[in-house]
Amino acid sequence: MKEKIEQIKQKSIEEIKNLVDLKSLEDIRIKYLGKKGELTAILRGMKELAAEERPIIGNLVNEAKETLEKLIQEKEEEFKQEELNKKIEAEKIDITLPSSKLKRGSIHPLNRVIEDIEDLFVSMGYDVVEGPELETDEFCFERLNIPKGHPARDMQDSFYITDEYLLRTQTSSVQARTMVANTEKRPIRMITAGKTYRREDDATHSHQFNQIEGLVIDKRERNISLADLKGTLEIFVRKIIGANLDLRFRPSYFPFTEPSYEVDVTCFKCGGKGCNLCKQTGWIEVLGSGMVHPNVLKMNGYDPDQYSGFAFGTGIDRLAMFRYGITDMRYLYANDVRFLNQFDRKDEE
Ligand code: DAH
Repeated sequence: MKEKIEQIKQKSIEEIKNLVDLKSLEDIRIKYLGKKGELTAILRGMKELAAEERPIIGNLVNEAKETLEKLIQEKEEEFKQEELNKKIEAEKIDITLPSSKLKRGSIHPLNRVIEDIEDLFVSMGYDVVEGPELETDEFCFERLNIPKGHPARDMQDSFYITDEYLLRTQTSSVQARTMVANTEKRPIRMITAGKTYRREDDATHSHQFNQIEGLVIDKRERNISLADLKGTLEIFVRKIIGANLDLRFRPSYFPFTEPSYEVDVTCFKCGGKGCNLCKQTGWIEVLGSGMVHPNVLKMNGYDPDQYSGFAFGTGIDRLAMFRYGITDMRYLYANDVRFLNQFDRKDEE
């Protein structure tokens, strides 16, 4: 019996030494120390032994069990440590590697133009204001001297939501909103930019586009005149589109200004010689403008006998196309990163 115990002990020690993983360690524990384990079986068989042998054998078995348990525990710790080491090794971070570059977006060309225009006008003392895109017929048309049935509405084929609400067709609506909101009827110098909507779609028109609008109103004794309008637009065009451009004021008609002008600039493609872009005229139309119509002043709470002013408006999409040489307006709205990446400005980094 004693030999058998010794044999089991040696065998198990040998097996434990040769183990390769935690799982087989558990197998060994069951094999020797489990309910049906080899050492357990000897303890069970004790009753068949002579009384004086029992304590001796019992001691031997217990000693073998202790040795085994200790070995198993040691081995278990060894395996766990090994596993941890492996994990640490695998998760090691090389802090000397250069980091991967964060991808940065860029400012959309339209927003770039809007920001530049706003900066310019703020530097001349203008406020930047905002108006709603879902607008009422009243503010989009009526208060701008375009009553229901007026032919000027035909040029702005519109998205009506109800009889009264539509997507604004022009940022001129913000002119009326600013005048009405100015309850103390103080002078106004404002610029506003934003989305406008009309039912049209081709290479140079989109159902959604952007406009910028300016309005200046002051007391009559300040003598706001066409000369002020002209000087302002000259600064605007030369700073935003091109320093060497000339302006040409062409009499035109807008219901909310009187007199009204369309403003052309030298064709930046041919420098004024005439080409396909300017249809051989040497000029490209960029702005609508004029002196604020007395009806518009009156309808929005400014007495035309006491106040006068000028207004102007233009499409930002076209300005952006001129400025960056974009050939199809739809690129501006396609959200294609190959297009947008080209407007990353390195000097901003
Ligand atoms: N709202 C006009 C349009 O969309 C542009 C315009 C013309 C705005 C003359 C003005 C202006 O402020 O005075 O065609």
